Amino acid sequence: MSPSFKLQYHFVLIFLMALRGENRYLELREATDHDPFLLFGANLKRELAGEPLYRRALRCLDMLSLPGQFTFTADRPQLHCAAFLIAEPEEFITIHYDLVSIDCQGGDFLKVFDGWILKGEKFPSSQDHPLPTTERYIDFCDSGLSRRSIRSSQNVAMIFFRVHEPGNGFTFSIRTDPNLFPCNAISQTPSGRFTLVVPHLRQNCSFSIIYPVVIKISDLTLGHLHGLQFKNPSAGCGGIGDFVELLGGPGLDPSKMMPLADLCYSFHGPAQMKIGCDNTVVRMVSSGKHINRVTFEYRQLEPYELENPSGNSIQEICLSSL
Ligand SMILES: *[C@@H]1O[C@H](CO)[C@@H](O)[C@H](O)[C@H]1NC(C)=O
Repeated sequence: MSPSFKLQYHFVLIFLMALRGENRYLELREATDHDPFLLFGANLKRELAGEPLYRRALRCLDMLSLPGQFTFTADRPQLHCAAFLIAEPEEFITIHYDLVSIDCQGGDFLKVFDGWILKGEKFPSSQDHPLPTTERYIDFCDSGLSRRSIRSSQNVAMIFFRVHEPGNGFTFSIRTDPNLFPCNAISQTPSGRFTLVVPHLRQNCSFSIIYPVVIKISDLTLGHLHGLQFKNPSAGCGGIGDFVELLGGPGLDPSKMMPLADLCYSFHGPAQMKIGCDNTVVRMVSSGKHINRVTFEYRQLEPYELENPSGNSIQEICLSSL
């Protein structure tokens, strides 16, 4: 199985299982032999070789993690379809409609959502997204081709569609662009490293990992480097000023997740935590007065680590949901 196929298969599996509300053990096993570096290498080679755009048919439930051109053609009435799009955390996604042949009057639709939404839970949450929820849906049946290209505000987006008439459908292309200051993102891989920087902006940013993980925060800077915003660690967070919180829970929406730890003073050196939840989020709340920065590494918890909680961990909180 090629690595990119493996990744897609893995993601579709997650969402099929999430839709059915089942547990994630199967997917835990699937993820272990996926190597993100192979995927990156394949991407790079394709670009260097100037190969033509990747093209394939879109399924009614699909996961797209590579740029390319995708075509959906209904072979029967398909009423509940969704495609999950994901890029690297440092990328925006642009969806461009090449061709659309659907019957809006007849009840078909084609909508882009700026983020992911699953079982009513949104990522980014409405507290973290720059746009109000209604503006995050772009309905082809309202705007037509006047909004032919739609850019997401982060590395994930979704397409919802319904096509009644066999033979009808649409074609779109996906492109990615660099995002210099990624704020909200979902990790494509169960392990990795990320630095979240919020430069003098009044915004909240969530980095989401859709796996149970061990997370190691190696560096946190809140406020000016010269200590103008020095806080006394023993005073606690007290709900004021800028801070980082670790959240865990079974769903996608950070605003519905359980706060597991608050970090509100700068430090260097690793602080490690095991989080046995389906989803883990590192969220930074920024007032805009400072340059805030947090660096962390994460790796997926092995099934045996989930079964034998021990030591310095707070994973018990989520074990009941696994
Ligand atoms: C960020 O989140 C905090 C609390 O989590 C909230 O009080 C604040 O209004 C949010 N800021 C923005 C810009 O949405």
